[in-house]
Amino acid sequence: MQITICDSYENMSEKAAQMIAEQINNKPDSVLGLATGSTPLGLYKMLVDMNAKKEVDFSKVISFNLDEYYPMKQSDKNSYFTYMLDNFFSQVNMERNNIHMLRGDTDNPEAECEIYEKQISDCGGIDLQILGLGNNGHIGFNEPNKIMELQTHITKLHTSTIMANSRFFNSVEDVPKYALTMGIATIFSAKKIVIMASGIEKKKIISEMFNNSVNTSIPATLLKLHNNTVLLCDHRACCDLLYC
Ligand code: F6R
Repeated sequence: MQITICDSYENMSEKAAQMIAEQINNKPDSVLGLATGSTPLGLYKMLVDMNAKKEVDFSKVISFNLDEYYPMKQSDKNSYFTYMLDNFFSQVNMERNNIHMLRGDTDNPEAECEIYEKQISDCGGIDLQILGLGNNGHIGFNEPNKIMELQTHITKLHTSTIMANSRFFNSVEDVPKYALTMGIATIFSAKKIVIMASGIEKKKIISEMFNNSVNTSIPATLLKLHNNTVLLCDHRACCDLLYC
């Protein structure tokens, strides 16, 4: 895993935006895997600015989001669909048909996951996958567990994830207990992975990730097995790697 430590959140977001722009400029019909949460907000803002300045063109880009809460209506203000629409899709020149998001309002989550998995492989797989890092080491919503699910699946969220994400909801009780998420093999099939982490609250899990060998109790350690992964972090999150 290549590690790039940036001096600020803005700098980290800018580097990630440059990587995506480079990917799209080299291959205009690139397939992107996208994440939500607080970490990539700066990245989306920069991509919106670059698109407005015509530095990057999303007209042929195809996207697949990592996950969605379950159950969750697309129109809910806390859905990842609303997040993506508000922070990115409505502000760049992406084609609606090229945007793929798991539906948290499906009656048949298993079928929804199977179709999603097929759609990804029909597009030739993901070229560049953006990931955030959960405080408990999850990637997508692949939570710490003895056994990792490989393909896109429905999963029960850990209490720590529910607590962490309750900051977006009125109360902890309002956070859905389940989610649909790409699996570990889905993420691993990406040709390149960029995992982003910022802020002091990620310092503990970053140091655990590097002080432990590959294990499923810290799913992010599995990324050490992927041959083209970059960890992009700010110095507050990666302080321990710098021994400061
Ligand atoms: C979001 C996702 C999650 C987040 C992770 C970190 O689509 O898959 O794995 O990336 O929970 O969230 P933030 O960035 O809010 O700390």
